[in-house]
Amino acid sequence: MEYRSIYFDGDVVHILDQRYLPFDITYCVCNNEKDIFDAIREMKIRGAPAIGVAAAYGMYLGLRDFDGDSNDFVEKAKELKSYLDSARPTAVNLAWATKRILDKILENKNNDVFLLKKLVLDEAKKIEEEDAERNYKIGEYGSELFSDNDTIMTICNTGALATVKYGTAFSVIKRSYEKYTGINVIALETRPYLQGARLTAFELKEAGIPFKLITDNMSAFVMQKGLVSGIVTGADRIALNGDTANKVGTYMLAVLAYYHKIPFYVAAPISTIDFSIETGKKIPIEERSLDEVTHCGGKRIAPYDTEVYNFSFDITPHELITAIITDLGVVYPPFKKNLRKLLSNPNR
Ligand code: MRU
Repeated sequence: MEYRSIYFDGDVVHILDQRYLPFDITYCVCNNEKDIFDAIREMKIRGAPAIGVAAAYGMYLGLRDFDGDSNDFVEKAKELKSYLDSARPTAVNLAWATKRILDKILENKNNDVFLLKKLVLDEAKKIEEEDAERNYKIGEYGSELFSDNDTIMTICNTGALATVKYGTAFSVIKRSYEKYTGINVIALETRPYLQGARLTAFELKEAGIPFKLITDNMSAFVMQKGLVSGIVTGADRIALNGDTANKVGTYMLAVLAYYHKIPFYVAAPISTIDFSIETGKKIPIEERSLDEVTHCGGKRIAPYDTEVYNFSFDITPHELITAIITDLGVVYPPFKKNLRKLLSNPNR
């Protein structure tokens, strides 16, 4: 079945509403910046690279009908960037994409508004295309780390739904499945939002890749039983020292992998590396609605007035990460030195 997390057509943005997956494939239309903001905030679209692309188009939709001079256009673009960046705080891809649009405007600010609008749309389309290309490369590089009969564990959803195409950690899994025989996957359900059970299971089935779905709290036992060859996760933001924010539960997997001597890999495009922060301590962690914890499938499962934590992401310390798989190659420790080298890569 053909599905796309996001596409631009007819001067509007179409988003696959992931809240209804795996049972309904329904697209919603975003006609302005507020529609995009709401789609990101309400998780119609989610996954770091996908929300970056959505925000880039959100910049265009917010500027498309602008009627004023170039100076005001620049001011409006700055306002839009702050607004869209605030939709979700952890994934840096969002602010990275809106910055690319804003930079393009600033570089060309002496041109007329008609041209500026065209440049904004072209840049958003470029960000979309590049995401697919970069994810393909992640799959190529990452699959070199696996071999026949490996079982790869993963958390959350990092596939085409979380990106434009191929995915990040999912791209590594898919390419390994294409290259080797006997590749299997263990997917964590990923409480509380169940991206693993709803979305990764859906994508694995669509791709025909054999897998087992487990509850998050089974992870230690399946590792102890020797059922896991390696772990690959995505990332929402990677600090210069390699500390990585990803879906809550990722840190738990990294600790368990260390204890059981299983390689632990993070897969992410360059847009997920935040070169402006030295360590994970600076990464803001989104806290989501408490209902996600007190309820399951829309049904209350905890007593009324139960107090909860709902951290949506956690930070995996760099020393627990075997390697970071990027679209520019596999980066090994020391991350502080080796991630910095990517800054001078001409394909960045
Ligand atoms: O809250 P979500 O569903 O947006 O979280 C997604 C993740 O944590 C992914 O692992 C991450 O964005 C990388 S996806 C390619």
